[in-house]
Amino acid sequence: MQRQVYVDGQYLKESEAKISVFDRGFLFADAVYEVTSVIDGHLVDFSDHILRLQRSCRELSLSLPVAPGELKKIHDELIDKNNLKEGAIYLQISRGNAGDRDFLFPSTEVKPTLVLFTQARSLVNNPKVATGLHVVTTEEIRWHRRDIKTVSLLAASLAKEYAHAKHADDAFFVEDGFITEGSSCNCYLVLHDDTVVTRPLSNAILPGITRQSLLRLAEQDGIKLEERSFTPEEAYHAKEIFLSSATQFVLPVVTLDGKSIGDGKPGRITLRLREIYLDMIKQQGK
Ligand code: PDD
Repeated sequence: MQRQVYVDGQYLKESEAKISVFDRGFLFADAVYEVTSVIDGHLVDFSDHILRLQRSCRELSLSLPVAPGELKKIHDELIDKNNLKEGAIYLQISRGNAGDRDFLFPSTEVKPTLVLFTQARSLVNNPKVATGLHVVTTEEIRWHRRDIKTVSLLAASLAKEYAHAKHADDAFFVEDGFITEGSSCNCYLVLHDDTVVTRPLSNAILPGITRQSLLRLAEQDGIKLEERSFTPEEAYHAKEIFLSSATQFVLPVVTLDGKSIGDGKPGRITLRLREIYLDMIKQQGK
């Protein structure tokens, strides 16, 4: 069945949706995006995703082509049109079709291109919750504004390919000896005294929306938190490792660079955090 997608004011069958070859998203990766999960037909943490989108746009002098309220309507309409129960909505805003290839930004009369589409996927019943993930580390080769959610994802794609070639599920980037984040997720350790450690926000990592909610929920649940950088070496000896993202929520990591973490099984704190995050989603859907 063909999806109904959204392009610049129109809902179209996916085979009919077209973008110009001169679109700056295509030529220069001059575009930002968001991925919002949908559970039981409801958007998760939607307003926080839109706040981050607005920040990404501001940082790149990109204007939001429609108001946040209209973005909500488009998301809801796509959920409806595609009968989406569980999965995600991808949104992308590029600096638009400048009519040619030119590094300089086009005049402000060129309208940004707005694209959204749905991805139906099972997210809650992820088999990796029981087995845990195998992760490898790889050199950080991305640019220095990772706090902006741009579509420039080649380094992330290369990192996932590298992990795949090593029969691993994902890769964590390492810069100056410290783990920054995963190819498409934020990273955490659980120390032997059950303290959760995660890297503080800076231009080195994306300010994950799941991270933001998780840190709030962890604090409410009485879990100790420490925001600081950590090395792969410290991670190898952690009690637990886990990651977070909008489509994975919280997933345990059971090996890092082939080394078994803790007792080699998904950890107690990790599973507790996944549970309280899923509870929060249920509450939002009510
Ligand atoms: N990726 N760090 C990076 C580099 C990411 O790409 C993502 C999300 C995150 C987690 O952010 P959030 O919790 O807001 O999803 C951290 C999305 C899911 C993607 O590109 O598909």
